[in-house]
Amino acid sequence: MKGTTYISELKNNVSKPVTIAGWLYNSRSSGKLLFLIIRDGTGMCQCIVEKGKVGDELFGKLEHLGQESSLTISGVVRADERSVGGYELAATDAKIISPSSDYPITPKEHGTDFLMSHRHLHLRSQRPWCIGKIRHTVVDAVRRFFNDNGFILTDAPILMSMAGEDQQSLFEVDYFGRPMYLTQTGQLHIESTAMSFGKVYCFGPTFRAEKSKTRRHLTEFWMVEPEVAFIDLPGLLELAENFVSYIAKRVLEDNTKELQTLGANIDAIKKIVPPFYRLTYTEAVNILTSDKTRKFLDEQLAQFNEQKNNIEKRIAELEEQQKGKIKEWQKEKNAAELIDLRSEFAEVTTKIENNPKHARLAAEFRWGKDLGGSDETIISQMHDKPVFVTHYPKDAKAFYMKTDRSNPKVVENFDLLAPEGFGEIIGGSVREDDYNMLLQRITEDGLKPENYQWYIDLRKYGSVPHGGFGLGIERTIAWLTGERHIRQCIPFPRMMDTVYI
Ligand code: 4AD
Ligand code: MG
Repeated sequence: MKGTTYISELKNNVSKPVTIAGWLYNSRSSGKLLFLIIRDGTGMCQCIVEKGKVGDELFGKLEHLGQESSLTISGVVRADERSVGGYELAATDAKIISPSSDYPITPKEHGTDFLMSHRHLHLRSQRPWCIGKIRHTVVDAVRRFFNDNGFILTDAPILMSMAGEDQQSLFEVDYFGRPMYLTQTGQLHIESTAMSFGKVYCFGPTFRAEKSKTRRHLTEFWMVEPEVAFIDLPGLLELAENFVSYIAKRVLEDNTKELQTLGANIDAIKKIVPPFYRLTYTEAVNILTSDKTRKFLDEQLAQFNEQKNNIEKRIAELEEQQKGKIKEWQKEKNAAELIDLRSEFAEVTTKIENNPKHARLAAEFRWGKDLGGSDETIISQMHDKPVFVTHYPKDAKAFYMKTDRSNPKVVENFDLLAPEGFGEIIGGSVREDDYNMLLQRITEDGLKPENYQWYIDLRKYGSVPHGGFGLGIERTIAWLTGERHIRQCIPFPRMMDTVYI
């Protein structure tokens, strides 16, 4: 708006008069002074309104203004380290644009379901705002990395005539009377564009009708997929570790404040630099079934129990305080802490329940199965940097992965597991480039070769070693921000059992 200054620009306007335009986030009055916290999308700013300066009438209006009312405030900028955002406005005037009353999301207690079903408003709150800013950086870093490294963006279609991954997770669409499917991956199509441009990527929404209700699964998520002609497995791992490290570096550079607000583990992000750990699947299996892992899980159980006790104690303490006579702001602060504690309590209780189950699954793990969520979690908990797991059993993996010529039981693939228990963020492989072997894998997987003729064709006209991978954007954001559930990492999440708005 003409004549207004963004809050992010206040730093360049110290001691000058400005007008900011935004929404009322919070307000507090002490009779003659009013403290209004305004947010404008670029940041937050405390405005101090003195009755003596703005007059009784305006002061009265502002004092009773509801949360999320829109307004402009004029005043002089002051630097103040203690203030949210570091700058304050000594208000001289204000204009209410549109008043709001009974805004449903208050600083008080709200459960996740309530917040998610008010997602259209919830996105204005601090946590979603911080995550949204970080998502923006991640997406920008993804594009910048590939664009600066000679990759050509080639978009893949969203409507597909055949499966790109497993057939069970296809969303069918009626395409003028014949079935088509929402894309699960752009990989197959960009294997074709890689034969034109050499290094390509696609980046878009992908869909999986996965019957998984875990905190790591969405039915609609964003995936970026590079594909490179003339690359081998070591080359792919190097590309992936440089790529992920670049994203982490950018988030640290651009979003330290947001990471702090979210309580993310900044020191852990600083450790994300090449080289990452490298394990073969067989080594991972040996780790899972080892005494070391059994001991590790036992120790973890003891830690979880201790955490649970501490949380219980703190909850009891706060509940006691809430019953007594305390200031309103303290009550609200306690209520907010209690929400967090109760969700931490639920989480640690689940971990305690799951620990023996996961320990048994790990101990009984036999070579040949795909690694399950809990197995990945264990491996990733044992490392402080991302871990590549390579060379999975052929029978556990997709048809397009190249059979290792030196050991035909395994494929030349990798998963990248984010550390500290987060689990898989990337899946990738070298692609089967032999015409007959690919045909055989397609048939073995129960797929119809006629649906894949164009894809098999690529192995007929100048086939070359090539490969690529897919990185899930929401999983990456959840990992970097320390957000427990992936649904917080996309503006409007779609999950198997819930579509909120
Ligand atoms: O391991 P995936 O299934 O690999 C592929 O789709 C390959 N075609 C990619 C390629 O080689 N070009 O999926 C890749 C990544 C996973 O590691 C995960 O981060 C994310 O996509 N992902 C999901 N994210 C959220 N919800 C789901 N249901 C996801 N499924 C996969
Ligand atoms: Mg995978």
